[in-house]
Amino acid sequence: MRSILRLFLFATFVVVGSLAAVLGVDYGEQNIKAIVVSPQAPLELVLTPEAKRKEISGLSIKRLPGYEKSDPNAIERIYGSAIGSLATRFPQNTLLHLKPLLGKSLEDETTITLYLKQHPGLKMVSTNRSTIAFLIDNVEYPLEELVAMNIQEVSNRANSLLRDRDARTEDFVDKISLTIPDFFDQHQRKALLDASSVTAGIKETYLVSEGMSIAVDFVLKQRQFPPGELQHYIVYDMGSGSTKASMFSILQPEDITQPVVIEFEGYGYNPHLGGAKFTMDIGSLIESKFLETHPAIRTDEFHANPKTLAKISQVAEKAKLILSANSEATINIESLINDIDFRTTVTRKEFEEFISDSLLEIVKPINDALKKQFGGHQIKLSDINGVILAGGSSRVPLVQDQLIKLVSEERVLRNVNADESAVNGVVMRGIKLSNSFKTKPLNVLDRSVNTYSFKLSYESETYEAFGRGSIYPNETSILSATIDPIPNNFTIDLYENGKLFETVTVNSGAIKSSYSLEKCPSGVAYNITFGLSSDRLFSIQEISCICRSESDMDGSKQVKNKSSRLTFSSEDVEIKRLSSSERQRLHDHIQLLDKQDKERFQFQENLNVLESNLYDARNLLMDDEVVHNGPKSQLEELSEMVKVYLDWLEDASFDTDPEDIISRIREIGILKKKIELYMDSWKEPLDSQQFEGMLEEGHKLLQAIETHKNTVDQFLREFETEFAGTIDNVREEFEKTKLSAYVSNALSTWEETLTSFKNSMSEIEELLAKNIIGEDLRERLFEIKLKFDKYRTKLEEKLHLIKTSDESRLKEIKKLHLRKFRLQKRKEEKLKKKLEQELSKHRNETESIINESVGNEDSPLNDKTTELNSGSKEEILHDEL
Ligand SMILES: *[C@@H]1O[C@H](CO)[C@@H](O)[C@H](O)[C@H]1NC(C)=O
Ligand SMILES: *[C@@H]1O[C@H](CO)[C@@H](O)[C@H](O)[C@H]1NC(C)=O
Ligand SMILES: *[C@@H]1O[C@H](CO)[C@@H](O)[C@H](O)[C@H]1NC(C)=O
Ligand SMILES: *[C@@H]1O[C@H](CO)[C@@H](O)[C@H](O)[C@H]1NC(C)=O
Ligand SMILES: *[C@@H]1O[C@H](CO)[C@@H](O)[C@H](O)[C@H]1NC(C)=O
Ligand SMILES: *[C@@H]1O[C@H](CO)[C@@H](O)[C@H](O)[C@H]1NC(C)=O
Ligand SMILES: *[C@@H]1O[C@H](CO)[C@@H](O)[C@H](O)[C@H]1NC(C)=O
Repeated sequence: MRSILRLFLFATFVVVGSLAAVLGVDYGEQNIKAIVVSPQAPLELVLTPEAKRKEISGLSIKRLPGYEKSDPNAIERIYGSAIGSLATRFPQNTLLHLKPLLGKSLEDETTITLYLKQHPGLKMVSTNRSTIAFLIDNVEYPLEELVAMNIQEVSNRANSLLRDRDARTEDFVDKISLTIPDFFDQHQRKALLDASSVTAGIKETYLVSEGMSIAVDFVLKQRQFPPGELQHYIVYDMGSGSTKASMFSILQPEDITQPVVIEFEGYGYNPHLGGAKFTMDIGSLIESKFLETHPAIRTDEFHANPKTLAKISQVAEKAKLILSANSEATINIESLINDIDFRTTVTRKEFEEFISDSLLEIVKPINDALKKQFGGHQIKLSDINGVILAGGSSRVPLVQDQLIKLVSEERVLRNVNADESAVNGVVMRGIKLSNSFKTKPLNVLDRSVNTYSFKLSYESETYEAFGRGSIYPNETSILSATIDPIPNNFTIDLYENGKLFETVTVNSGAIKSSYSLEKCPSGVAYNITFGLSSDRLFSIQEISCICRSESDMDGSKQVKNKSSRLTFSSEDVEIKRLSSSERQRLHDHIQLLDKQDKERFQFQENLNVLESNLYDARNLLMDDEVVHNGPKSQLEELSEMVKVYLDWLEDASFDTDPEDIISRIREIGILKKKIELYMDSWKEPLDSQQFEGMLEEGHKLLQAIETHKNTVDQFLREFETEFAGTIDNVREEFEKTKLSAYVSNALSTWEETLTSFKNSMSEIEELLAKNIIGEDLRERLFEIKLKFDKYRTKLEEKLHLIKTSDESRLKEIKKLHLRKFRLQKRKEEKLKKKLEQELSKHRNETESIINESVGNEDSPLNDKTTELNSGSKEEILHDEL
């Protein structure tokens, strides 16, 4: 399938893959933003249920009332803006800011202390993989599962967006492109990949650096760069939890048909500086103001109250936003602690003084990026064309002031949307990496900010496999020193920036005998192939053992070295990934919860519909006209039904069979409709005259059907004679002509409808014959009339469809005839031309004989002209077919 989608002004997409969608997700500490791309939705932002552009990162998990305490699945998950207020009421159930905990253990004191300070009241436990899990109402949730729930929720929303665009679509999100900070280590990257792999429907996940995402968006938005001029930019991204400065070189080659080159050159970061820290600082400021004015309350008492702290952080967040645009924020907290209401103001000046110690921290990432460059360009601060602001917290005035001081006002760039640049870029990278759609080509040189090294267990030295600045993806093979003799099984330790994270056990024991000293007198060496994947994972890809033959040593003779692939197994050190069985378990668990949610939602919907139908019915029963003139028995029936069902509704619970609710909705609806129809036709006479009139109309309709059949037959007979030369069996062709699914579906019940209509006519005939039309039978008479009307309408609709489709079938036959006719004509003409050519050849031969004897004569040019004309005629015929 190839179709063209037009996107932003700068990009044109061509679908190359099959039906599928790519979801770009900017998974932030505070917010999640997502964009989906599919043939139905070229780059569409996935809005929240409240139509917001970003969703809160996190969720609340609450027990459903009325269930067994021991049922771990009787929970309700709440996402989105509702979490905000739940965080203060149920801090022990609300999980926010989970991102920095990925791939961490409880041993990581800095991270855990900071987290618990922000989120007191949450219970964390260690899993048997040394990762973090949360204990909520005594149920343990591994962090990966909670993050997966978040991603799943976004993905579900993207899928329903695709269905909204096109109800028949089978497209669903199967690839996901996630932003990741470059400073994340191997365990953190693996944890995010695991969380994504637990998400239903996701077959592939790409991790894309946040900085690179923003740089890609910047280049696509900016569009034009001076050809041949190397430019340098720093993306300054201050999010909620961290601040990153990523330096890039951007080059539009002189040959402007060549793609723009984006090259990652340097990186600096602070994993704890960001909006959340500023919020906490303002919180501390409010707290100290409160404690000063309420000396009776002790600090530890204050800190031991999770609800109090949650309220403080809620108002601090609001105050921070106000202080971005105003010099003062008023704070009002009801019942902060011990039923004390608190009111105060915080000024921007106070805030700036409070954090004056961290002012230097604000620009440090930029200085680090310049200091620790890994590209080859040796960029100086004065070479920087601009600092691109990104991340919600880059709006804080104090932050901008510091940047302006560093690089001047003109070089602080606000060209990208600070909130959405990363998600715009990550989806474009995802499209490129998944190769699902064609995009504007960019030459992206992404580099690792880490150093990767390894150590063999039988040696003491550590060797580097990939240095800082290696380009993703990369592969390298390293030949070990010759060893003699071959050791038993050995291990290889893998390090990231000097930190051990994985141990690989190599099964060399099995080949020990075939690589013995007698067989390899010059010893053996290991050829180890390391990989640095585009998912930013460092791993061993292949290990082989090489037997060095003697003749090889002097290098004079090329002898093929014997080598064997060795098997090996890897194990994470300390923090471990999800096992495949656990991955399956989490996947199934989320699926189960999603299914329950859907059922519960549907159940509630159905209950609401039933309830409102019952109230509508009750209103109908109280209508004066209905009470006096309505159909007595049906009114009694409805009245009883309303009473019984309202009682039943009181006791309905989640155990109630949903089918039961639906059938009750249907029953009520049918009975109510009958009464309403009866009332509508109250003024109808329902006498013999009316029924005789109906019969007459019925006969007319049947007549019209006959007439149509005859007309078609007439045409077909004419065609049979006219088209005898081109179409063998006109009637067969007529039947064969395809109808649209909609039409053939509707017509499949033609005979049934016709019979039902005829039956209802017979019923009327019977009525009239028995002469039993009278007042007391009104309800039954009305039903007979309704039945007649219903089938008449249906039959008329179908007859209309038959007429139009028969017309188009007849047209098709005519077209078929014309096509075949032209084909015959063309064949004849070809034949004729061939004949003429042979004739002229014959003439040439004759002429040349004559010329030889007679000499030159003027030739007529007519032949050539004729040929040209007949040639172009043939082309036109081709096009018509
Ligand atoms: C770790 O715990 C999970 C359940 O949380 C269990 O499925 C798994 O088998 C355990 N693994 C080990 C090595 O104990
Ligand atoms: C790939 O890795 C090798 C080995 O570390 C290194 O020499 C090379 O420069 C890397 N390639 C790129 C493109 O970074
Ligand atoms: C090497 O490891 C393999 C698999 O782990 C094991 O079966 C074998 O016994 C080990 N051999 C030696 C000599 O330790
Ligand atoms: C080492 O292994 C790699 C990957 O299989 C291969 O390309 C390379 O030629 C090998 N090197 C030697 C010296 O055998
Ligand atoms: C055999 O291995 C040695 C290194 O041990 C290498 O120098 C030599 O080129 C290899 N020979 C062949 C034919 O690959
Ligand atoms: C006849 O001769 C003319 C001119 O010599 C030539 O262009 C033409 O192709 C010839 N026709 C055939 C059928 O050989
Ligand atoms: C014969 O001569 C006429 C007149 O000169 C010329 O047009 C024609 O092409 C010649 N035919 C051949 C076969 O040479």
